[in-house]
Amino acid sequence: MPKRDYLVFSDLTKPQVDGLFQLATRMKAGEYRERPLAGKTLAMIFAKSSTRTRVSFEVGTYQLGGHALFLSSRDIQIGRGEPIPDTARVLSRYVDGIMIRTFDHAEVEELATHASVPVINGLTDLHHPCQILADVLTIQQHLGGYAGKRVAWIGDGNNMANSWLDAAALLGFELRLACPEGYEPDHDIYQRARKLTTTLITEEPEEAAEGADVVTTDVWASMGQEGEAEERKLAFKGYVVDAELMRRAKPSAIFLHCLPAHRGEEVTAEVIEGPQSRVFDEAENRLHVQKALLATLMG
Ligand code: CP
Ligand code: NVA
Repeated sequence: MPKRDYLVFSDLTKPQVDGLFQLATRMKAGEYRERPLAGKTLAMIFAKSSTRTRVSFEVGTYQLGGHALFLSSRDIQIGRGEPIPDTARVLSRYVDGIMIRTFDHAEVEELATHASVPVINGLTDLHHPCQILADVLTIQQHLGGYAGKRVAWIGDGNNMANSWLDAAALLGFELRLACPEGYEPDHDIYQRARKLTTTLITEEPEEAAEGADVVTTDVWASMGQEGEAEERKLAFKGYVVDAELMRRAKPSAIFLHCLPAHRGEEVTAEVIEGPQSRVFDEAENRLHVQKALLATLMG
């Protein structure tokens, strides 16, 4: 059987996503006692900072009986220019899976092409597919399912927005994005998604949030965009999830944020700390759903 990678949300089929959610739910409930990673090692390459991704993958691997190696790209030879194909082939001789967080999505594809073990994308400038698995699982747990739901994305058309588009296209829920001009999601990802599900891009946060089941957002400047922070603060003025915007959504709507969050920028403290916020369940679900993913790809 060929090895399976998870680089973008659409690497999975809908039945596979539903299967991961079932397994993750059993794991979360403490009903899963197997150790499919016993004797196995996950290499975790990080070229960017991380709290949730690093800790959830490391703890998850340990709970499944395996061992996780944290490899900062500044410390391994990749940071000194060792070719990715060489790194991929060498690591494949030692470990049973590779998780990578980096800038250029093409580097993750190159790593996966040359690795003989499964490769998991822990975030690139273009995608954040592990986070969206946790987000949709959170929707399922709090709203009883994702079918027929309307998700409102407020702000930057970044890696998170692109993975939301992939998820909406695959699973068939509605996604409305409110982005300032010039900060829309990836053109090709959007064009593909709009053929497969109901989606729109507007410059009006109110239009996106109207009647939504889920309101979600992310930072105005992602990792690697620190130099654009000031111009982004101007561009994203008004792209804020506050109590008034939440009132446009359904009374039962939940608020999600992948974290880290900047209170007073993309979201108010009132909303992220308020009764509709599910951000810590969302963060917890990273652990459960990634364990399901690790057990499936590496077990
Ligand atoms: N949401 C997320 O990926 O968080 P970290 O950057 O802390 O891993
Ligand atoms: N869009 C953010 C997500 C962080 C988890 C970033 O790329 O920095």
